[in-house]
Amino acid sequence: MTTPDPTTPSSEPTTPSSEPTTPGQEHAPWDLDAEAWSELLSGPGRAVPVGDPAAEAPSLATSYLGLELRSPLVASSSPMTADLSALRALDAAGVGAVVLPSLFEEQVEHELGQLEHLGQEGHGVHAEAPTGYRPKLDGYNTGAVRYLELVRAAKRTVSVPVIASLNGTSPGGWVRFSRAVAVAGADAIEVNILRVVAEAATSGREVEGDALEVVESVARVSGLPVAVKLAPAWSALPSFACRLVDAGAAGLVLFGRAPHLAVDTATLGVHSVFGLSHPMERAEPLRWTAILRGQVEASLAASGGVRSGQDAAELVLVGADVVMLTSGLLERGPGRIGEVADDLSTWLQDRGYASVGDARGRLSQERVADRSAFQRSQYLSGLTAYASTFRS
Ligand SMILES: Cc1cc2nc3c(=O)[nH]c(=O)nc-3n(C[C@H](O)[C@H](O)[C@H](O)COP(=O)(O)O)c2cc1C
Repeated sequence: MTTPDPTTPSSEPTTPSSEPTTPGQEHAPWDLDAEAWSELLSGPGRAVPVGDPAAEAPSLATSYLGLELRSPLVASSSPMTADLSALRALDAAGVGAVVLPSLFEEQVEHELGQLEHLGQEGHGVHAEAPTGYRPKLDGYNTGAVRYLELVRAAKRTVSVPVIASLNGTSPGGWVRFSRAVAVAGADAIEVNILRVVAEAATSGREVEGDALEVVESVARVSGLPVAVKLAPAWSALPSFACRLVDAGAAGLVLFGRAPHLAVDTATLGVHSVFGLSHPMERAEPLRWTAILRGQVEASLAASGGVRSGQDAAELVLVGADVVMLTSGLLERGPGRIGEVADDLSTWLQDRGYASVGDARGRLSQERVADRSAFQRSQYLSGLTAYASTFRS
């Protein structure tokens, strides 16, 4: 078959050649069947299925971490999910599951009395940390013991699965707390392994090793299904994702966010800011859900920038089992989940899908023979399409 010259990319999708493949070239980078091409790269005007508006409302039921959910729309971790009246409103609006705010390993360790000395280690050494490095989290949640009360209260308040969230990156005694979370009644645990590695001496291998150990321990100790919430910045995410699953992860959350560093030029101070997401942040979960679908045997939760039913539909099309929302709910209130569900349902119905499962993964890259080459070709064609707007 002919291979397109990557130096002269086209903004149009490359159509598959009808020439027979030669032995050894069965998996040429661009080798897709016609249906896959049309699903992946169809241009404007592509015929889409049209549904019968009078047909029964599509089923939104989905499965996530082995749990049966009535909807793929999940309220992700934020202060909203610590508020029982907001939880009640989310439940009434049809949310599929709720993820509680994170409890941090530092809090657990602190309450276990094991890391008290850490608070003094950085004391006065750096201008940006005049009171030491141990975070002051009391304003965010109430600590480990009260967290268990939140799990119990959330279970009493909502009819849908309650997913506890632990933020931890280093293996240690804190993982024992995951058993208490299970006993308190959580249906699953999300482990947030976002970590900003700031030392040149720490290698990627070490960081991955720590994360794998944490996930393995939490899954084993808790006995609950575990989802791992990741950052998009891994050098080889599919390989790491597979190892997380081997370590016991039942699902991956693509992706979490870290606070941004803000510089105050007036006071010459720095502080961290956790603002709401921008809708453009959907780009990374879109890309990686499409890539990982079919490569990892785990549930995929897409998270970042979702505001509407259309956004959710896009993520389902590339393969998301569930779509998570935080900023959209913080902006518009917990009832927004019902509007997004209605829009998603209308979209499914208009396209003739009887269920969200029918639409799932239609635009994933499961059938792409060489996903890396495909990404590269997309990179080039995207650039070319943009550059063409400057031609006279
Ligand atoms: C105010 C706020 C608090 C958050 N707290 C947590 C948290 O405790 N644990 C966590 O894993 N993610 C937390 N997140 C991240 C969200 O769960 C979500 O992953 C992220 O905001 C992307 O989704 P979105 O674009 O819908 O906001 C928080 C986000 C915001 C905006």
